[in-house]
Amino acid sequence: MPRYALLFGLLPLTLPLYADSNKGRAAGAEVYKTFGCAQCHNPDLSGSEKGPDLRGVGRRLHQFDITQQVQKGGGGMPSFGDVIDEQQTIHLVEFLHAQTKGPKVRKRFKPLTEPDPQVQQKPTEDQQ
Ligand code: HEC
Repeated sequence: MPRYALLFGLLPLTLPLYADSNKGRAAGAEVYKTFGCAQCHNPDLSGSEKGPDLRGVGRRLHQFDITQQVQKGGGGMPSFGDVIDEQQTIHLVEFLHAQTKGPKVRKRFKPLTEPDPQVQQKPTEDQQ
């Protein structure tokens, strides 16, 4: 599966980004806005009834796990592996992994059983 190839291809690219990079995080914040993550996780990452609070996600998930959640989705979240390109994913994950202000333990969250049909994954401009 090409998607798995992409996933494992990302790992070596993601690991060096443990070093602080404000630029990468700022780019990641833009990706977060562009692809509609805020529809479920809220613009300030505080979560909604459609998606959990991400303000402490960097304290509980490894970069690789965040990458997997973004690329594959699951648990009520759509997959973004086909819409967000590799470089954008790296920035996005870096941005999220830097979110360490929220609680380490995720608040109880009961996802919707069906994905919300109103939520749109926005394609990037060059894919339109
Ligand atoms: C349709 C609503 C929806 C959208 C849009 C959405 N998510 Fe999610 N997200 C969820 C749900 C629901 C979960 C919980 C999944 C689970 O518990 O298995 C989740 C989980 C996550 C997690 C793991 C959180 C944790 O603590 O376990 C991350 C990271 C995440 N989403 C990032 C994103 C990013 C980045 C985007 C945009 C590219 C995005 N999400 C778009 C609904 C959404």
